[in-house]
Amino acid sequence: MSARVVHLVGARPQFPKLGVVLRAQAAASHGEPLVVHTGQHYDPAMSDAFFDELDLPEPVAALAIGSGPHGRQTGRMLEAIEATLLDLRPDAVVVYGDTNSTLAGALAATKLGVPCAHVEAGLRSFDRSMPEELNRVAVDHLCDLLFAPTETARDRLRVEGLGERTMLSGDVSAEAVLHAEGIAAAHSHILQTLGLAPRRYAMATLHRAESTRPEVLPGLLEALASAAARLGTLVLPLHPRTRAAIAELAPHWHETALRAGVRVTEPLGPLDFLHLTGHASMVLTDSGGVQKEAFLLGVPCVTLRGRTEWIETVECGANVLATDAASIDAAIARHLAAHHDRDALRARALDLYGGGRAGARIVEGIRTLSKEARS
Ligand code: UD1
Repeated sequence: MSARVVHLVGARPQFPKLGVVLRAQAAASHGEPLVVHTGQHYDPAMSDAFFDELDLPEPVAALAIGSGPHGRQTGRMLEAIEATLLDLRPDAVVVYGDTNSTLAGALAATKLGVPCAHVEAGLRSFDRSMPEELNRVAVDHLCDLLFAPTETARDRLRVEGLGERTMLSGDVSAEAVLHAEGIAAAHSHILQTLGLAPRRYAMATLHRAESTRPEVLPGLLEALASAAARLGTLVLPLHPRTRAAIAELAPHWHETALRAGVRVTEPLGPLDFLHLTGHASMVLTDSGGVQKEAFLLGVPCVTLRGRTEWIETVECGANVLATDAASIDAAIARHLAAHHDRDALRARALDLYGGGRAGARIVEGIRTLSKEARS
């Protein structure tokens, strides 16, 4: 009987990573993949669009947990995942990234004694006020097998005494970007739809809890409007949380922003988003994944945070951290003056993130884990 492997996902950034591992699992003809979706992200644009466009299989269980305060959201997931795993009886569980779905999945699986593997292990921002940082630390210490995307991540896991459970896999996002880029080039019409010319606009995203706090959001919004005035057009696909926070904290911002050149859109599907990012002159974001995707696409990035878990992006000069209007402005000026060689940035990023072959290594690791569980 073939091994039953549950892939536990729930939030937008996990879906492209899932695609990489499922494709590799199919290529290796290893086991039966079973997708479980917690429903942390539930808007069609945040979930269904990803399953459709990335050709992901229908989940065998959709837990429909939705939003809520961290404790309630994670607790409800834990209960529902435990029941699902008891029902599915998998040989191994795979969790992705650093969301509350990742934490609940790792905790439910390991408490049931089901071997659990963590994709994107060993990342640290060393900022414990980020909920994602607490999830990363807890999940790494819970899981039986840790797939480190970079040498920095592997070394960190060694320092934390987790070296024996760690495997240097390379990064799944590198592979996800390489795979989706060609498909997006063939199928995305987003540049024409928005009437944009390559390199004549910048891209921005803003969604983290920290960014939408009342003391932080108005300053960031002002900085985005200034960035738009400086860079031409700035496309801003809005996360539902940010849209709600703007309506409450800065209801008149949209008019000022529009005058400055900000183009607000609904959340975009993965192919349109990647296509727009790849042709942008610059990216401004508070997201973990987007700063790295920009690097992989050779696009300079300003990360709207004080710290990052993807430190290589900063060390290479592709990414500058900035949190207030003056430093954001200075970061943009620095990138404009640098005249980055985009092909060189891309090559460096691919080299650092494992050359786009992480999926196959991860499937090898899962094979060993599920075999051990059965013996
Ligand atoms: C989560 C992850 C973060 C990841 C991000 C990607 C945690 C702690 N954080 O944060 O690591 O980078 O996803 O987007 O797990 N909402 C909707 N519709 C949706 C999803 C969310 O309206 O489909 C709204 C809800 O009002 C909710 C808020 O957005 O309260 C935040 O949603 P949440 O589930 O906490 O996730 P993210 O903030 O997106």
